[in-house]
Amino acid sequence: MSPPDRPPAVLEARGVVKQYGVTAGLFSAPRTLTALDGVGISIEKGSAVGLVGESGSGKSTLARLLLGVEAPSGGEILFDGAPLGTLGRRAVARRVQPVFQDPFGSLNPAHSIAEIVGLPLAVHRIGDRHSRRARVAELLDQVGLPQRVASARPRELSGGQRQRVAIARALAIRPDVLICDEPTSALDVSVQAQILNLLADLRRETGVAMLLISHDLAVVQHLCERVAILYLGRIVEEGPAGAVLKDPRHPYALALARSVLTVGGGTGLPDLGLGTQWPNPLDIPSGCRFRPRCPRAIPECAGTDPALRTVAGSGASGTHRSAACIRVEAEPA
Ligand SMILES: Nc1ncnc2c1ncn2[C@@H]1O[C@H](COP(=O)(O)OP(=O)(O)O)[C@@H](O)[C@H]1O
Ligand SMILES: [Mg+2]
Repeated sequence: MSPPDRPPAVLEARGVVKQYGVTAGLFSAPRTLTALDGVGISIEKGSAVGLVGESGSGKSTLARLLLGVEAPSGGEILFDGAPLGTLGRRAVARRVQPVFQDPFGSLNPAHSIAEIVGLPLAVHRIGDRHSRRARVAELLDQVGLPQRVASARPRELSGGQRQRVAIARALAIRPDVLICDEPTSALDVSVQAQILNLLADLRRETGVAMLLISHDLAVVQHLCERVAILYLGRIVEEGPAGAVLKDPRHPYALALARSVLTVGGGTGLPDLGLGTQWPNPLDIPSGCRFRPRCPRAIPECAGTDPALRTVAGSGASGTHRSAACIRVEAEPA
């Protein structure tokens, strides 16, 4: 939730709930899985916001809602203050573009790089053949690809180059917001930093706003002004990215901040040191949902489902911080 004195958001989620009906087997009754439970996030014009959480916390679900490819079960998504549902899929795609984790899966293997990057221009009927070709050349330059890749197919490129192609395609129609869902997770460690630097440069050059999704708080801190931390479908901490990394308040944010990448662990996921009790959205604990894994839990945590509250002394606007934990001192209401 953004305090009233912050600049208006270009893209915003308000109290968003997303539920899916799931069946475990042929004879079991369908159950409701709540992937997002009252999530608020605000992306200001030209800003970069990080969204961090473990696998299964609901990050990609929020990404799909912000892209308008799925509708929320409750709450609303607003673009420039207008509900996304009223804009239409095509209009939303014109303004909000995705960059996915696996560039290979999202690039048509039969198309040349020039065709892939130019496709959004053709779909949205922007310019003629000649101006589109010029725009593709400009985009390749912008993402640091040599012009000779224009006639290549995706399989001829490296993973990092393919992600550059996906980014060029996302930028082709000059969207207002990029939704980057773990854009470096599938890449070699050596190229991850290059792609993050590219995103930072493009943001400066084009003024595009970004939501950067990652399971790594450090990655997000590098690029984003603010960060929201998602745990089992709820934002548990929100604030300036640097402050949250340096001085996390919610115990889960603290675990993320302390986590180190497990070298050679195979998963590439941070070791949170929180034990093996994997969170399950079909079995959300009563009281505070983080309680079973929380090193700071006290008996009261079983009886209270903590709301996101302003952290005491966090100030207004740019320094505003909030956390959903009864053990974190909140600003008196
Ligand atoms: N289409 C779907 N149907 C049923 N469950 C889903 C669907 N999409 C996501 N989920 C569930 O919602 C939860 C959040 O998933 P997701 O948003 O992919 O998390 P993340 O991207 O953080 O790993 C998971 O438990 C996942 O299994
Ligand atoms: Mg995901």
